[in-house]
Amino acid sequence: TGKRAFIAGVADENGYGWAIAKSLAAAGAQILVGTWVPALNIFESSLRRGKFDESRKLKDGSLMEIAKVYPLDAVYDSPVDVPEDVKTNKRYAGATNWTVQEVAESVKKDFDKIDILVHSLANGPEVSKPLSETSRKGYLAALSASSYSYISLLKHFLPIMNQEGSAISLTYIASERIIPGYGGGMSSAKAALESDTRVLAFEAGRKKRVRVNTISAGPLGSRAAKAIGFIDRMIDYSFTNAPLQKELHAEEVGNTAAFLASNLSSAITGSVIYVDNGLNAMGVGI
Ligand code: NAI
Repeated sequence: TGKRAFIAGVADENGYGWAIAKSLAAAGAQILVGTWVPALNIFESSLRRGKFDESRKLKDGSLMEIAKVYPLDAVYDSPVDVPEDVKTNKRYAGATNWTVQEVAESVKKDFDKIDILVHSLANGPEVSKPLSETSRKGYLAALSASSYSYISLLKHFLPIMNQEGSAISLTYIASERIIPGYGGGMSSAKAALESDTRVLAFEAGRKKRVRVNTISAGPLGSRAAKAIGFIDRMIDYSFTNAPLQKELHAEEVGNTAAFLASNLSSAITGSVIYVDNGLNAMGVGI
């Protein structure tokens, strides 16, 4: 209640970022989102045209308000890092101030401070290739978009985070167990993200008592997951084999994020929290 959240990685109503925004809004937080530049126009026009209104509904009947949508490309830290071909690309030319540093500056100018930072984005151009067939470029791109993007966000947003704030990211169990099909270095990227969660928890904790945790979520048929290609099989597998044989709702991840953002979790930092119907605890599928 009374807190302000910046959620990076919301571009439609189907992903974890949207569900987290809803749970935080339901708990009384003000919502700011960062939307990938190439997805910005369609997201904003769909919002304006009421396409998401059904899904904006909160339990009390009110509609989630998004105070501001910021264009963001978390692969670029500041304007000097943006290559010429991206600058002039027509999908980027219409937007301004979308590097991580500039977005943090804009949020500071508009709202001064935030309490909650959420990283709900990932990208691996070679995700459909096995790790052993991944190019150096594809591997580094996966790490840049999916892991370093979090370090960069925290680096630039920590100075505008209130004391005792909370930072949350989304990870996947492919970091620690073999999940064939989650390739292109995405498994490596999630392993880095989880390790970084611990180190960043130390650094942000000592600096500002900000807590840093990551949610290891079960499979959800989001836009990003559908692009990987095996999501339906993973959802079926989880349904069959997890301790809880039920659908995993994005809202359940959203509610966990709301808990991690709240003072109810005031002693939890540096943790990987599983929200996966318990699938992580199984040794074999049965
Ligand atoms: P999603 O498609 O809703 O979210 C991914 C977002 O990342 C998209 O909005 C996309 O526009 C954005 N994005 C990609 N590159 C970007 C960049 N360079 N800068 C800014 N934004 C960028 O899909 P989903 O699945 O909800 O993903 C959110 C997080 O959840 C990701 O970290 C993902 O790895 C994680 N996750 C997803 C699972 C699933 O089964 N869907 C399972 C476990 C973790």
